[in-house]
Amino acid sequence: MRAMKLAAPGGLDKLVLTDVERSEPGAGEIQVEIRASSLNFHDYAVVTGLLPTDDGRIPLSDGAGVITAVGDAVEAFQVGDRVLSHFFPNWGDGPAGFEKIQGIPGDNIDGFAAQTVTAPSRAFSRMPANLDFEQAATLTCAGLTAWRALMVETHLRPGDWVLVQGSGGVSVFALQFAKMMGCKVVATSSSEDKLQRLASLGADRLINYREVTNWGAQVLAMTDGHGADLVVEVGGSGTVPQSVRAVAFGGCISMIGVLTGFSGEVPTAELFQKNARISGITVGSQAHQRDMIAAVEANGLQPVIDSSYPLEALADAFRHQESQQHFGKICVSI
Ligand SMILES: NC(=O)c1ccc[n+]([C@@H]2O[C@H](COP(=O)([O-])OP(=O)(O)OC[C@H]3O[C@@H](n4cnc5c(N)ncnc54)[C@H](OP(=O)(O)O)[C@@H]3O)[C@@H](O)[C@H]2O)c1
Repeated sequence: MRAMKLAAPGGLDKLVLTDVERSEPGAGEIQVEIRASSLNFHDYAVVTGLLPTDDGRIPLSDGAGVITAVGDAVEAFQVGDRVLSHFFPNWGDGPAGFEKIQGIPGDNIDGFAAQTVTAPSRAFSRMPANLDFEQAATLTCAGLTAWRALMVETHLRPGDWVLVQGSGGVSVFALQFAKMMGCKVVATSSSEDKLQRLASLGADRLINYREVTNWGAQVLAMTDGHGADLVVEVGGSGTVPQSVRAVAFGGCISMIGVLTGFSGEVPTAELFQKNARISGITVGSQAHQRDMIAAVEANGLQPVIDSSYPLEALADAFRHQESQQHFGKICVSI
């Protein structure tokens, strides 16, 4: 079978399509023919060497496919089942813990840029019945992160305001989940065209963050002084000061992303005066993923796919992501 491997120290020109031996499943394992994956900023950081990994690593954390063989003592699945990978194979349920978030596919262990993957059955859940493989593959990282920010870490109510930043994978899912639960959404983007597409997905208020650099105050004005009950913070250091300005009294900034850098200043007094909190999250557990899948099915949610690339064009897919021209998710068909 073929797999894309990354040669050290990383870089888009270090991705090489290679023949790899397929392994049979041992006890507790399943063999999955992978049909699709999707790109996340985390994957980009791995393949470009920003997050160093082992020489020869198979990248990509997201994978959806069909089970082709089942090892002994696997009761949850059978051959032919359509399955979706978990970002954290070791985090079943309960609160996050250091051990639970080790062993990320495509980072610390081999991922899903491969035609076949053999792994413990706990590394997969069943796929949503209403989605195809590419759509399903978008859920593992971006979908679940947005789900946890909205549904697990905060106690949002219908009518509350949610702020989403830009039109990448996490943000578009956050917009879709927010509308699904009856919240109102302020969406920001660098592009007028993308703002209109965010509006067509239900965004109630729009801000071009390139033109309106103090957009935090604009969020307050647009929400009659209330602010955002939840800020889905994907920008990081460059956006936190505006997010603190935008957040509502008693609101939450869900600290997710690093698109503008890894550390920066926080307006601490403004934060505590609002009795607001910043809450860091890493994707979510397998139990969170099962809940999300149930909600995706019940609501007929359709992930927003920007484009799809064949496995052999993985480097081009990452170049497209790097250009930030995409809207929603970039997929890989395998
Ligand atoms: N903590 C976690 O568990 C977790 C999980 C998933 C992702 N993340 C992080 O979340 C971030 C987003 O991930 P992703 O996969 O959704 O990325 P992505 O799809 O690559 O998002 C790219 C988009 O982000 C927007 N953007 C860039 N700079 C911005 C800024 N200064 N203000 C507002 N929007 C900006 C742009 O949208 P426009 O073109 O519309 O401006 C851009 O197209 C990344 O840093 C990623 O590492 C963290």
